[in-house]
Amino acid sequence: MNSSNPSFYVTTPIYYVNDRPHIGHAYTTILADVLARYYRLLGVPTHFLTGTDEHGQKVYEAALRNRLTPIEQCDRTVVRFQELWKKLDITHDDFIRTTEPRHTRVVQRILQELYDRGEIYAADYAGWYCVPCERFFPDKDLAEGNCPECHRPVERLTEKNYFFRMSRYQDWLVAYIQEHPEFIQPASRRQETLGFLRQPLGDLCISRPKKRMGWGIDLPFDADYVTYVWFDALVNYISAVGYLADEARFRAWWPASCHLIGKDILTTHTVYWPTMLKAMGVEMPRAVFAHGWWLVGRDKMSKSLGNVVNPMDMAERYGVDAFRYFLLAEMTLGQDASFTEEAFRNRYNADLANDLGNLASRVLKMVVRNLDGALPAIPPRTADEEGLIATTLGAVGHMRNYLGSMQLDRGVAETIQAVREGNRYFDRMAPWQMVKAGDTAGLQRVLYSAAECLRIVSGLLFPIMPSKMTELRRALGLTETAARPRVADLATWGGLPAGTRLQDPGSLFPRIEAVAEKGGAVVAEPAAPAAPAPAPAVNVVTIEEFGKVALRTARVLAAEAVPKATKLLRLEIELGGETRQIVAGIAQFYKPEQLVGRTIVVVANLKPAVIRGLESNGMLLAAKSGDTLRLVTPDGDVPSGSSVG
Ligand code: ME8
Ligand code: MG
Repeated sequence: MNSSNPSFYVTTPIYYVNDRPHIGHAYTTILADVLARYYRLLGVPTHFLTGTDEHGQKVYEAALRNRLTPIEQCDRTVVRFQELWKKLDITHDDFIRTTEPRHTRVVQRILQELYDRGEIYAADYAGWYCVPCERFFPDKDLAEGNCPECHRPVERLTEKNYFFRMSRYQDWLVAYIQEHPEFIQPASRRQETLGFLRQPLGDLCISRPKKRMGWGIDLPFDADYVTYVWFDALVNYISAVGYLADEARFRAWWPASCHLIGKDILTTHTVYWPTMLKAMGVEMPRAVFAHGWWLVGRDKMSKSLGNVVNPMDMAERYGVDAFRYFLLAEMTLGQDASFTEEAFRNRYNADLANDLGNLASRVLKMVVRNLDGALPAIPPRTADEEGLIATTLGAVGHMRNYLGSMQLDRGVAETIQAVREGNRYFDRMAPWQMVKAGDTAGLQRVLYSAAECLRIVSGLLFPIMPSKMTELRRALGLTETAARPRVADLATWGGLPAGTRLQDPGSLFPRIEAVAEKGGAVVAEPAAPAAPAPAPAVNVVTIEEFGKVALRTARVLAAEAVPKATKLLRLEIELGGETRQIVAGIAQFYKPEQLVGRTIVVVANLKPAVIRGLESNGMLLAAKSGDTLRLVTPDGDVPSGSSVG
């Protein structure tokens, strides 16, 4: 992960298609995306691979549970990953599925070659098998009779299997890790692998008899077996870039610069994978980086605890960029981090609403109002600007260094420091008083300098918040090409040309108020148990009367402004298979593109009305309080047309 590398090839784990993606999958993929986007800004040729792991017991069992064939299970689930990556603005260059022929062919060729060379051999094997982990364990490794990895019961099995002679590479691997401190990162994980390698390393069972589980790639030399899912999955990192198929392409990208993984799959990536590559005679990846775990509050995320965070919901609720920002800023790479919506709101309000959004709004508003929207010539630097310039340009250097050392959260923190410095500078210089005093030169200098700070920080944050920062950079008058920053342009002060037209983009990061959780204007607070009987309310409706109102969820297919009506949007919604048009007075609160794809709640049986010549067939629900309006949306995935009540 050295920015002077001629190219940058980054991978994520390929995710199992046994279930829908959660925040952990989203995190690794966003992290890879942010790295890829930074390297592209640095002008380094970049290749970003992600994909899905579609064979093996986990997927097979999920298919059984869902009454699907394994490939149907894969085809249905892969879409959830692909749609999520689209939603989260992930810019992968390739998506590999391990059921694709371009992959299975390569796995089979590797198996055959290793078998022919005696690196793989058959043997009878008796051992303890853990079904969820799909691994055999010798007696000595069991944890009180259970699986040492997941602590669930194991089964005794004896069968013929095929083994990879992993043990013969143990000494080589230990020496390799010691000679290449950057190979396993962070250092604590390197110690963990070295610790693991202090025990004798056994050979690796790489086959599964089809009679037990047939969902995998056939062993080319024994039709009764499929290959072990890890011996298949790890190969994706080379099969996707043309190993044994396209020599030039393979040479262009391999060795990978960085395999990003979670700490759960450290052994497979730092013991199995390097020994497999060594046996194949393929160069080692430059680095394996294992990040920590996202916890929910203090708990592990798990289905049984019912605390699995759905990234699609988070992105819908708070915006894709804010979600990406939170994940990147909150996790210190290598350590565990805790997700709560409260932590999310706090960081969002502090960094984005109060610091960055505020600076953008006050600077751009004043340029529009007091300088007619046009930037002056680059003003002379005075002592007043020294601190601001040093902190802002300093952030560029910091970001570059922290990128190299995989400490992105610190790079982000330095950038937000520059934003804070921008706000302090603005407060100290008080340009509004310069307006009053008629000090045009002073005003021009302050607004130019603050806008220049915004140009640089928006460039530094662009890989993390690509749409919001593009919005900000357009408001700063940067043209289409310059809206995509290059690091070289960020490292010099004075990049905004004189005469640049600036616009007020409105509120980039509106504050999130916590009221929504308490019910806001829509759901009433439950009455306190000990409270006296409430006075009879006016306008009570009976349950029967309420039952006449058909509230349904609907998905917004399209949205557009209604010409000459500042408050209205025309929405096309899909309601349980039916497409309808509704006209809603929400144009001052939502842009059309913020609505598309969202699930909303509508009164489905409202008598149709014609508004501005457009038929409106239903009414959407929104919570309103003072100047804010927020759509009512379900707290989780529900199909459109679901009844609400
Ligand atoms: O292991 N916090 O796939 P998988 C952070 N198919 N990251 C998390 C996380 C959490 N709570 N939960 C999951 C597999 N992840 C294999 C990989 S690679 C050749 C084959 C992320 O679907 C993290 O990156 O179980 C972890 O390593 C990965 O998802 C595991 O995904
Ligand atoms: Mg897993």
